[in-house]
Amino acid sequence: MDVAVGESSRPSEAERAALRESLSRALPEIPPHYFYDDVGSELFERITALDVYYPTRTEIAILEHWAPRIVERSGCQHLVELGSGAGRKIRLLLDAWPRSQDDWSCTMLDINELFVRQSLARLAADYPRCQFRGVVGNFVHDLDRLGPPGQRLIVFFAGTIGNLHPHERQAFLQQLAAGMGARDRFLVGIDLVKDPARIEAAYNDPQGVTAAFNRNTLTVLNRRFQGDFDPSAFAHRAFFDTHHAWIEMRLRALRDTSVHLRGLDLRLDMHEGSEIRTEISCKFTRERFVRDLADAGLWVDDWFSDPEQQFALVLVRRAQV
Ligand code: AVI
Repeated sequence: MDVAVGESSRPSEAERAALRESLSRALPEIPPHYFYDDVGSELFERITALDVYYPTRTEIAILEHWAPRIVERSGCQHLVELGSGAGRKIRLLLDAWPRSQDDWSCTMLDINELFVRQSLARLAADYPRCQFRGVVGNFVHDLDRLGPPGQRLIVFFAGTIGNLHPHERQAFLQQLAAGMGARDRFLVGIDLVKDPARIEAAYNDPQGVTAAFNRNTLTVLNRRFQGDFDPSAFAHRAFFDTHHAWIEMRLRALRDTSVHLRGLDLRLDMHEGSEIRTEISCKFTRERFVRDLADAGLWVDDWFSDPEQQFALVLVRRAQV
């Protein structure tokens, strides 16, 4: 089993500059990849099992129904999963893979090294004929570490593409399209626009798991940048922004607080009630997503959804050039 770990785990100057800039905005922002240390990755797994959090079970139901069709339509030989997390959904595609196919492989890319190693070990034991490879990295910056184009099915589950700001999403799709060959396919999960009350409930669970996940990002920053955030001084807030069609997660200061992040050489003075944005989660209409894909030079091959049209898995190819 081969696991490629990225550059040093110490923050680079570019990373520090990017975070300093985003924390210095009128509405300070923490990029969502800081959620996913070991604790945060585990909390996200717990979120996916919550009754109110419909995206995961809906996506799994779509996969359970359509995986054989997806595999057949893609005509691919190599699976690549971006943001693979615990690596459970990929099994539904691996189970649908033609038994006759010997030369198949699966690459898992995730930001959390522990999750990459654990899920690869489990998968390699259960699918001994498949060649597994792990890449510890970020799906925005590490697309060029996924191996050469040609008959790859690149999957991006969970609606994670919705966690990118629209301009980041377009840059990501363009970069992805530029690296895709004519026989590569992209399978992407998106959460669809629906009753805002249902969406808001999914990000405000009564057990407080999402709140713990949200606050954990402050602990991650404390560790990585020698900070002194007190997570208990912040309240979780999540609301649907109808104009942008996205969920916004924030942390609201419960009292005046001054935070020093020594590793960033930054002091953040927050008044009671002021907020930090920690995540957006875009919800899509079919029209909007097809347009976004087309703008990046990508075409929809097939569209798979559930009967209630809550979530969709979209099979995409590069437009002919
Ligand atoms: C990973 N991503 C698709 C999740 C979402 O729904 O946007 C992250 C999450 N945030 C709060 N709950 C789940």
